[in-house]
Amino acid sequence: MSKLMDWIDARFPATHLWENHLGRYYVPKNFNVLYFFGSLALLILLNQIVTGIWLAMSFEPSAEGAFASVEYIMRDVEFGWLIRYLHSTGASAFFIVLYLHMFRGLLYGSYQKPRELVWIFGMLIYLVVMAEAFMGYLLPWGQMSYWGAQVIISLFSAIPFIGDDLAQWIRGDYLVSGITLNRFFALHVIALPLILVGLVALHVVALHEVGANNPLGVDIKKARDESGRPLDGIPFHPYYTVKDIVGVVVFLFIFCTVVFFFPEMGGYFLERSNFEVANPLKTPEHITPAWYFTPFYAILRAVPDKLLGVMAMGASIAVLFILPWLDRSPVKSMHYKGWGSRVALLVFCLSFISLGVLGVLSPTPERILLSRICTVAYFAFFILMPFYTRMERTRAVPQRVGSR
Ligand code: HEM
Repeated sequence: MSKLMDWIDARFPATHLWENHLGRYYVPKNFNVLYFFGSLALLILLNQIVTGIWLAMSFEPSAEGAFASVEYIMRDVEFGWLIRYLHSTGASAFFIVLYLHMFRGLLYGSYQKPRELVWIFGMLIYLVVMAEAFMGYLLPWGQMSYWGAQVIISLFSAIPFIGDDLAQWIRGDYLVSGITLNRFFALHVIALPLILVGLVALHVVALHEVGANNPLGVDIKKARDESGRPLDGIPFHPYYTVKDIVGVVVFLFIFCTVVFFFPEMGGYFLERSNFEVANPLKTPEHITPAWYFTPFYAILRAVPDKLLGVMAMGASIAVLFILPWLDRSPVKSMHYKGWGSRVALLVFCLSFISLGVLGVLSPTPERILLSRICTVAYFAFFILMPFYTRMERTRAVPQRVGSR
């Protein structure tokens, strides 16, 4: 075995890579459960790719055949139902895991210096995952697939001068049609997954360059023993590989329960109107996007003007990119930040969840008002951040983990 490894190492840096990224990659010893979600995101990405390849084997990307081919997968393909449910549940699980992964970043200031690029690569991943989910949703060619795509693509037509041409260029037609389905299929199965895998690699490389943050925000690189090992660090392997397996097992229990017993999740993971084939002549009564887009959809609807609504929706995502430069706090973790930051994060999370709920419901004057209040709270979190993070009283961060 060791001879084989020597042979490989002379030609490829296998041992070097293993040691640098796992065996001798030192990470803080105080990770908590919120640190499970990075490896879980990797697991779901793998699930989406593998089940996606198998779905593509029996799916027909045409307006005439798409809906029927999904029914064929569900009824006639061996274990087709399982492959499809793993993929559709995986899409929602991806967003749940990503939102918790991002929340962890907000809670512990993991976007702050020197991890700005880790955050930016993460945000690019988030954008690509959103595009991936949006395009995947059109493929089964159900009523909600069709009308959801119609509504979202027509948002581009709100852009002055070029809007209509742009929307037409995206659709490849005057309406959403088989041509749109065909290009979305190409992007969904090849272009975006390639970009996604590349971005995840960049995300992890950037993280390994600067090292992981931790719930206390203590810099473990400062205190080292004589051989240079961080005193508060432990090698990723075997400590966190084993710990991550615990997370994977718990996750799979929950995930499989949903896949086998509640794959539609009351119409949230698979929407009821999507069991009806797309009909360009029949608009469904309520068109709502999938649950993971509804906070942004609620922001869009909260603004009376279409163009301003689209701009607000775009800004609500774009502002997350500049987060590392909005936070002026001398400390990273919420443990040591002041009340200003704590209340702001709480209000932000509550408004995001409320917007998510409001985006699912049909709009009434009261709900629109509430959406407006939540939209203001959402943006206030970012706009006021340079002020409350600088003005509040923070607590001193200890030199070492465990010396709090
Ligand atoms: C396919 C999606 C993603 C995958 C596979 C992924 C993977 C990972 C992994 C394996 C880690 C290290 C382990 C951990 O800290 O949990 C990590 C850390 C991190 N990720 Fe992601 N990530 C994804 C998306 C995102 C997104 C969307 C963001 C935010 C916009 C983000 C921000 C971060 C940050 C800030 C860290 C460092 C956390 C710390 O050191 O405290 N990631 N990611």
